[in-house]
Amino acid sequence: MKLLQIDPSARHTSSVTRRLTAKFAEEWRKNHSGGEVIRRDLSATALPLITDDWGSTQLEDSKLTPAQRSYLSTSDELIEELRAADTAVIGAPMYNFSISSLLKAWIDQIVRIGKTRGYGPNGGQGLLEKKKVVVIISRGGAYEKGTAMEVFGHRRWRICGGDDR
Ligand SMILES: Cc1cc2nc3c(=O)[nH]c(=O)nc-3n(C[C@H](O)[C@H](O)[C@H](O)COP(=O)(O)O)c2cc1C
Repeated sequence: MKLLQIDPSARHTSSVTRRLTAKFAEEWRKNHSGGEVIRRDLSATALPLITDDWGSTQLEDSKLTPAQRSYLSTSDELIEELRAADTAVIGAPMYNFSISSLLKAWIDQIVRIGKTRGYGPNGGQGLLEKKKVVVIISRGGAYEKGTAMEVFGHRRWRICGGDDR
């Protein structure tokens, strides 16, 4: 069994999400003897931005130029890492009322038509086999129901199809 631990916080020693994903991994290890934890620190990963070159994801592998292959190599690596995992735990710090740019950049790299996402008779569908994904959110503000801040803490903060209520 494999657990993929994704840490997208910009902070290190003071990061709340890093502390919680580490705690999750520690507990997971206790319950999965022989299991392997793969840690992906996004603050130490060069994550390319989506540029016009992303169009090359629509080409057959054999038609890619060396430059296109190189551009897609990070995406290939991150997708294989996710594919190999049975469970993923993702830290999700709130920065400026949204997910951190590193987490968004990771999502942009792993959502790829033909590899992780396709279209079926009912529209869009995921192509990875079923996995457990745990998202651990940390934020500094209070977004209580009925307050003026509520709107910033709920629907605008949807991540990976979830809802933080
Ligand atoms: C650059 C930055 C922007 C932040 N923006 C928000 C925000 O918009 N709303 C909020 O509730 N907290 C905000 N916070 C507080 C963080 O969500 C909080 O510190 C959380 O613990 C961050 O996760 P981390 O400790 O793993 O980095 C921000 C923190 C930083 C460093």
